[in-house]
Amino acid sequence: MNKAKRAAIIAGNWKMNMTPSAAKEAVAKTAELVKDADCGVVLCVPFVDIAVAAEAAKGTNVKIGAQNVHFKESGAYTGECSAAMLLEVGAEYVIIGHSERRQYFGETDETVNLRTKAALAAGLKVILCLGEVLEERQAGITAEIVSMQTKLDLAGISAEDLKNVIIAYEPVWAIGTGLTATPEQAEEVCAIIRSVVAGLYGQAAADAMTIQYGGSMNDGNAKELLSKENVDGGLIGGASLVPEKFAVIVSAAR
Ligand code: 13P
Repeated sequence: MNKAKRAAIIAGNWKMNMTPSAAKEAVAKTAELVKDADCGVVLCVPFVDIAVAAEAAKGTNVKIGAQNVHFKESGAYTGECSAAMLLEVGAEYVIIGHSERRQYFGETDETVNLRTKAALAAGLKVILCLGEVLEERQAGITAEIVSMQTKLDLAGISAEDLKNVIIAYEPVWAIGTGLTATPEQAEEVCAIIRSVVAGLYGQAAADAMTIQYGGSMNDGNAKELLSKENVDGGLIGGASLVPEKFAVIVSAAR
């Protein structure tokens, strides 16, 4: 199976939760619980937590990521952080294009693409998020939406750089709602994304790409979702804040 060729990666997205002192404790606890993990483990934390989280993760198998990055190297961009800043404080990954950024902060496929290019050029690994909203699913245009997002968000990215991109399929209607996509729905859309990547970069690159599912994945439903051929991991919101629950999801990824 091609699934065996790909890295399984479980990533937590803490969103706007955890002060630095809470982060230090949560990373240490998570790292202890996932020390025997068979998959990659990443925690994407608020900017101000990155340094302390990276310190707490040192010598463990937990990697630290950020939740956004700007596309310029420096300048008058109030409130933003550059890729070099994130790397220097210990981030190895960055989430780009999360639906909350797209919904609340005006992120578009164009800025997602720019941010992705800048992050990759600087040496960060990117967790690129995309997915349809409820109205799009109900209108039967999920495949069109995720295909378009995949093409626009990856525009101009080389095959070499693609090796450092993970795509997270996050149906917006399933995020923080307790409504999870069924394993069949997750599989169907992850397979569509993979076929679009195959069209852009060839089958081998598509077969090697880690594609995660995200949206109300938890300790109860992870195993079934992760058993699907095209679901190589998860991007976990709420459940990543509770180390014991997150660890169960990590152990489901084998
Ligand atoms: P929940 O797991 O809380 O639904 O969040 C998913 C998500 O947005 C991860 O990025």
